[in-house]
Amino acid sequence: MTRKYVIRTFGCQMNVHDSERLAGLLEADGMVAADDVEDADLVLLNTCCIRENADNKLYGTLGHLVSVKARNPGMQIAVGGCLAQKDRDLIQARVPQVDAVFGTHNVGRAAELLREAAATGTAVMEILDEEDAFPSALPVHRELPYTAWVTIQIGCDNSCAFCIVPSVRGKEISRPFDEVVGEVQGLAGAGTVEVTLLGQNVNSYGRDLTHRRPLFAELLRAVGEVDGIRRVRFTSPHPKDLRPETIAAMAEAPAVCEHLHLPLQSGSDRTLAAMHRGYTAARYLERLAAARAAIDDLAVTTDIIVGFPGETDDDFERTLEVAAEAAYDSAYTFVYSPRPGTEAAEMVDRFVPAEVVAERFERLTVVVERSALARHQARIGRVEEVVVEGPSKKHPAVATGRTRQNKLVHFPVDGAIPAAGSFADVRVTGSAAHFLRGELVGLTARPRHKTRIPLAVV
Ligand code: 5AD
Ligand code: SF4
Repeated sequence: MTRKYVIRTFGCQMNVHDSERLAGLLEADGMVAADDVEDADLVLLNTCCIRENADNKLYGTLGHLVSVKARNPGMQIAVGGCLAQKDRDLIQARVPQVDAVFGTHNVGRAAELLREAAATGTAVMEILDEEDAFPSALPVHRELPYTAWVTIQIGCDNSCAFCIVPSVRGKEISRPFDEVVGEVQGLAGAGTVEVTLLGQNVNSYGRDLTHRRPLFAELLRAVGEVDGIRRVRFTSPHPKDLRPETIAAMAEAPAVCEHLHLPLQSGSDRTLAAMHRGYTAARYLERLAAARAAIDDLAVTTDIIVGFPGETDDDFERTLEVAAEAAYDSAYTFVYSPRPGTEAAEMVDRFVPAEVVAERFERLTVVVERSALARHQARIGRVEEVVVEGPSKKHPAVATGRTRQNKLVHFPVDGAIPAAGSFADVRVTGSAAHFLRGELVGLTARPRHKTRIPLAVV
């Protein structure tokens, strides 16, 4: 009997991509995907530890799986990812029914560990403190074949006071330039039209490979030149390392999309300093202005944390002001969550009361949605290049796709939904804070031309 697996992914795109690798490995091992945990022989949870509710979700899900396993004792439960890396033996101590635990540095060992657990009938755990090898050669199962994540860097050398990532993902390691380009060429050869370059801090890509050149900008251009690649995205750059060369590459390389995700975290200089972010609000806004001046029709998104320890009303007002001035297309807003082991988690006497944080969070949401809506309304009437994702979740006769600015667009079609990955021209007819509505103009895609725009000095 063919064994079936289910993978549940928590957290960021790095984890989504690791899950694609895990699926690839399990399939190489002869397994197939199951529709539901009820008929799975293996349930693998790929975990995240960046905020506290990720922990709670994991233990909630494990509670449910334990009851499924009671009915189906042959089922294996495996836990991988950041929380496994951080909590190690704690997971099996809390939930002894877990068969295998592995970390972020040994994703490639998952299938072997599971075989070992099945053969010996005992739980296994393997966590490495350092990467054994850059995990690029592993098989990958992609959900959407026309778009792919490509890891260019793992780990993070910064020390933001709130962030657990450096301690679980380790120091920054860049993947060799030619290897990244080679992977993208292989993907393009297999029909991929869009790639998203992934790293914790993509702007410092290559710092460990060469000190001389801004390698990330070169990488963007090289990937954009690969035959068949029509869209290049990346996430995330750190504002302190956003270089003019990167902005120039975004402005000039035709395939690089007009979307910048630039995490602000806070608009208060005092808070930014306490977070060790390495920039002031003014510097952030200057760099943003330079990017907007150089890159035609740039969409900007961000991450903001509300309630960092010691955040006063005044600090928060600055965040509202900077968010309004930045006029984001959308923002991921987070309530500060103390992560044991980080510097900010020690500032217990300065924690902001939950009801104050909740009220600030609401006010920030209003500011962000106002600019999102205004920026979306401004697109009404324009014809946008859209890559079709498939039918919309709610209406089978409505297609959903993404613009170059990464905006979701829903548009009705007569007859069959165009194949996923096809390009369509769509006129924007309506807008909301989180998506656009449109009408199909045609399925032909225009080649894109960019003009060279002189760069402002940042
Ligand atoms: N609490 C709240 N938000 C956090 N982030 C990272 N760590 C924390 C934390 N401890 C947010 C940051 C980061 C995003 C990925 O998650 O905004 O940019
Ligand atoms: Fe965390 Fe800061 Fe590194 Fe981002 S740059 S992963 S927020 S330490």
